[in-house]
Amino acid sequence: MPCESIVLAAGLGTRMRSPLPKVLHTIAGRPMLVWVAEACREVTGRPPTIVLGPDQEAIRSLVPDAAWVVQEARLGTGHAALQAKTALQGYHGLVLIVNGDMPLVTTGTMSALIGAQEANAGPLSLLTVTTRDSRGFGRLLRDSSGRITGVVEEAHATPEQLVIQELNAGVYCVRADWLWEQLERLPVSPKGEYYLTDLVAAAAGEGEQISWVETGDVGEVIGINTQVHLAEAEAVVRRRIGVKWMDQGVTMQDPTSTYIDLDVRLGSGVMILANTHLQGATTIGPGSVIGPNTVIRDSSVGEECTILASHLDGATLGDRVVIGPFGHLRKGAELADEVHLGNFGEVKNSRLGQGVKMGHFSYIGDATIGAETNIGAGTITCNFDGRQKNETHIGREAFIGSDTMLVAPIRIGDGARTGAGSVVTKDIGDHSLAVGMPARVIRRLKDDHE
Ligand code: UD1
Ligand code: MG
Repeated sequence: MPCESIVLAAGLGTRMRSPLPKVLHTIAGRPMLVWVAEACREVTGRPPTIVLGPDQEAIRSLVPDAAWVVQEARLGTGHAALQAKTALQGYHGLVLIVNGDMPLVTTGTMSALIGAQEANAGPLSLLTVTTRDSRGFGRLLRDSSGRITGVVEEAHATPEQLVIQELNAGVYCVRADWLWEQLERLPVSPKGEYYLTDLVAAAAGEGEQISWVETGDVGEVIGINTQVHLAEAEAVVRRRIGVKWMDQGVTMQDPTSTYIDLDVRLGSGVMILANTHLQGATTIGPGSVIGPNTVIRDSSVGEECTILASHLDGATLGDRVVIGPFGHLRKGAELADEVHLGNFGEVKNSRLGQGVKMGHFSYIGDATIGAETNIGAGTITCNFDGRQKNETHIGREAFIGSDTMLVAPIRIGDGARTGAGSVVTKDIGDHSLAVGMPARVIRRLKDDHE
């Protein structure tokens, strides 16, 4: 049977006490809403219908191909689900409804719930969990023969109901025609809202059979209502991601201090040392050793690289590159194979050729550096003249003396050398030695060789 999905995401998330809409809070670098939406897409084979609030238009870009509907007034989860009716007009199959703040529900569990509803003669199935820690979830009510009769919200539960440990996880699978009919008839709750959970009592009242799937994994039904819940979910996901990579041959010295975003890719034999953060669209090639104390974001690292106590953002590294401690690569830094970048080197929007050595205290910005060139300690590309950024080009096998200032725009030739402390304001030709402030060419090195 086909199945569509609805994600409820219009709530204000007031309990988060944050200016950021609740569903935009990230877990392992991915917004909560995207977790739910992508899981729904995977199990149903089509993009979900997402209910958002009137002031949340910015959220749409997160799932561009979803069907979006706006809940103009936040009148509860039942009212929110009803907003999807027009978007799903003419559809008569099953509908999976998921609270947008349940990011960790697995696709396996969602599929099991759909399967339960396919086998159910009644109109509705729901996901449950049994745990002593209620986390504010609604309690599942059963009659003396064990039939489900309803869900009562914690706020409205009697002391006897409060001790019930079987809880409503906030994921439902419902027959579409029955759903729309019943949503229109939901009673208003004592809080003045229309509760989706009252569908359960409605079905029971009609003598319909209600099916359920109980998850044995409390971790997957962490609903995010507060910042504390968010941190708990982050820990669960971090463990899941760590186990996945360790199963694929990645060594993790300390998984509890290793933070790997969902979209990161790691080669086999990668070793990750303590307190390392791999974020965004980062790729690490086989055999590389990363950390300790390293942050890498949206970067590509080749094979057998070593990156110690450094910060990379938007960088591309070849193979056998050695960085750190305390390297800083910024957007557009491209380091070819075997580059060595020592302590306190910063590179931005620059290409360093194969085997370039830059051992200590340098800034290279808006530059290209040819293969096998040595950048002496303290070298600076003075790329900003107060108005615009200017480029520096250094040839192959050049030797830039310690503390050289390269005042861009400037070109330094192949095999050229600068003396320690020179301030280079004019281009230096191939195989020439320049010294002083401002630097003057004093010798043709090629002649020396000859
Ligand atoms: C809800 C359930 C509760 C269940 C819990 C599990 C109801 C009434 N209660 O409680 O039984 O145990 O989830 O996670 O459904 N939303 C809207 N529009 C609204 C209100 C909410 O779109 O007017 C969305 C929210 O963005 C959220 C979801 O619906 O993603 C659930 O709302 P929330 O307020 O978090 O409900 P809970 O109190 O967690
Ligand atoms: Mg909730």
